[in-house]
Amino acid sequence: MPSPAALCVFLLLAAARAEDPYRFYTWNVTFGDVYPLGVKQQGILINGQFPGPQIDAVTNDNIVINVFNNLPAPFLLSWQGIQQRRSSWQDGVYGTNCPIPPGGNFTYNMQFKDQIGSYYYFPSLAFHKAAGGYGGIRVLSRPRIPVPFDPPAGDFTILAGDWFKLNHTDLKGILDSGNDLPFPDGLLINGHGSNGNRFTVDQGKTYRFRVSNVGISTSVNIRIQGHSLLLVEVEGSHTMQNTYSSLDVHLGQSYSFLVTTDQPPQDYTIVVSTRFTNPVLTNTAMLHYSNSNGVPAALPPPPGPTIEIDWSLNQARSIRWNLTASGPRPNPQGSYHYGQVNTTRTMRLANSRVTINGKLRYAVNSVSFVPADTPLKVADFYNIQGVFTPGSMPDALSGGPAYLQTAVMASNMRDYVEVVFENAEGSVQSWHIDGYAFWVVGMDGGQWTPASRQNYNLRDAIARYTLQVCSPSMTSKLCKGTTVSELCAS
Ligand SMILES: *[C@@H]1O[C@H](CO)[C@@H](O)[C@H](O)[C@H]1NC(C)=O
Ligand SMILES: *[C@@H]1O[C@H](CO)[C@@H](O)[C@H](O)[C@H]1NC(C)=O
Ligand SMILES: *[C@@H]1O[C@H](CO)[C@@H](O)[C@H](O)[C@H]1NC(C)=O
Ligand SMILES: *[C@@H]1O[C@H](CO)[C@@H](O)[C@H](O)[C@H]1NC(C)=O
Ligand SMILES: *[C@@H]1O[C@H](CO)[C@@H](O)[C@H](O)[C@H]1NC(C)=O
Repeated sequence: MPSPAALCVFLLLAAARAEDPYRFYTWNVTFGDVYPLGVKQQGILINGQFPGPQIDAVTNDNIVINVFNNLPAPFLLSWQGIQQRRSSWQDGVYGTNCPIPPGGNFTYNMQFKDQIGSYYYFPSLAFHKAAGGYGGIRVLSRPRIPVPFDPPAGDFTILAGDWFKLNHTDLKGILDSGNDLPFPDGLLINGHGSNGNRFTVDQGKTYRFRVSNVGISTSVNIRIQGHSLLLVEVEGSHTMQNTYSSLDVHLGQSYSFLVTTDQPPQDYTIVVSTRFTNPVLTNTAMLHYSNSNGVPAALPPPPGPTIEIDWSLNQARSIRWNLTASGPRPNPQGSYHYGQVNTTRTMRLANSRVTINGKLRYAVNSVSFVPADTPLKVADFYNIQGVFTPGSMPDALSGGPAYLQTAVMASNMRDYVEVVFENAEGSVQSWHIDGYAFWVVGMDGGQWTPASRQNYNLRDAIARYTLQVCSPSMTSKLCKGTTVSELCAS
C-alpha cells in the first residue's frame, strides 16, 4: 500500500488510568528458513514463529512490547487498526517512529483504549511485509460489556494473503526499477500453503473465525464447504448479523464471522481464493469435525466469485452497523449519531500510479510522499522546522504532473471531515487511515458530485479502518468510496 500522506495529529493529554492491566511481551525478530510454497525462503520470524505470536488483549489493556531487531536492516512494526490514542508516536510507520536499528531494540508502549475487535500487526518498512513478520491481534470486550452473540466455542485467526517466491529486496528492486510487481506465486493461510492448516471443531457448536488479508497486492474471498458465515464484526464494529456464503476481504481488512458446525460429522474445506485475477490462486484448509473419523465431505469444494465486481460492491454495501449492539463501551455503538454531525471539510483523495525519476510510485492528488530524515512526529514534538509543512497536501486533485513531497495534511482536532476516495487506476485500492475509524457512507461508480450526498447512509453505515475502492477498468466507471471521519485525539 502506498503511504501517501501523513495526517497531522495533535496530542490530548489525560491522566493514564492506573487500573487498566498491563501485558508485557519480548519479541526477537530474526530471519529464518520458511517453506510456505515448498521452496526454501528467508522469512521474518518473531520468537521463531511464522506468522508471529498473536496478541490477545481486552479493551483498555496496556500493551508493552520490547522488540529486538536481529535483522541486518532497520525494522518497524505497525499495528493495523489500533487507534493509538495519546500514543500516535507508537504507530510504527515511517514518520511516527525512528526505525529500530539492526541489533537494537525498542519498546512499544500503547493502550488499546476504547477498542474491541480483530486486527493484525505487520512490518512497515522496506517491503518486509512480503517476508512475513505479521500476526493477529484480538481485543475482547471487558467482562461486563454485553457482546451481541453467545461466547463461541472457539476463536480462530486466519491470516490470509498473497505470497511471492521472490524475496522482499528483489520485489522492492522491481518497483524501484519502474516496473509493476509480478503476479503472486501463491496464497498463504497462517504461513502455510494449501492443506497446511487444520481447524478442529466439535459438532453442534458455534465458532468465531477472524480473517485478515495480510497480503501485498490481491483481494481475497473466503468460504467454507457446507457452512454459511454469519458476519458479526468488522474492524472493531459489531455488524448487523447477516449470513453470507462467502466474504470478500480486501488488503488490510479484517472480518469476524461465526460458523455453526451443524453438518454431518465429516471434514470440510475452507477455501481462500484471489479476486479479480487471472489466473485465480487458491489455498485450502480443513475444517475438521472431531468426530469425523477423517471422512471428507461428499460435497464439491464451494466455488467463489472471481471477477464479479457488482457482487463485491453489493456485499460491501450490505455490511451495516448494529446500532443497538454494544461497542467497547456500555452504551450501544449507535448512540453516537454520526449522521447528525456536520462536516467542516471535504477531502477528495485521488490515487494515481506514476513514474518519477525512473521509480514506480503512487501519488495522492499528484503528491508522492517522500519520507523525511527526521520522523514527522519527532519533528512535531521537538518543533524542528523545515522537515514538513502542514497543509502541503491539496484537498483535491488539481491536475499537473506528480511530484515528490513530504506531504502533510493539516486539520483541527475534533473536526468532522468528509473524505471521497477516487480511484482511476486499473486495480482495487485499499485505503487505511492509521488511528482513525470512518463511516463508509457510500460506495459507487461514477463521478462524485455534491449531489452524491443525497444517497449517503447517515444512519447505520459501518465504522471501520480500511476501505476498498474499486477501479474503472472493472466497472467502466470511476469508482469511489466516501467516508466521514472524526479527527479525534491521537
Ligand atoms: C534472538 O534470536 C537469535 C537467533 O536465535 C539469537 O542469537 C539471539 O540471542 C536472540 N536474542 C534475544 C534477545 O533473545
Ligand atoms: C532494550 O531492552 C532492554 C533489556 O530488556 C531494556 O531495559 C531497554 O529499556 C530496551 N530499550 C528500549 C529502547 O526499549
Ligand atoms: C534476495 O534474493 C537475492 C537473489 O535473488 C539475493 O541476492 C538477496 O540477498 C536476497 N535478499 C535477502 C534479504 O535475503
Ligand atoms: C443487534 O444487536 C442487538 C443487541 O445485542 C441484538 O439483540 C440483535 O440481534 C442484533 N441484530 C442483528 C440483526 O444482528
Ligand atoms: C448541522 O447543521 C444544521 C443546518 O445548519 C443545523 O440545523 C444542525 O443543528 C447542525 N448540527 C449540529 C450537530 O451542529
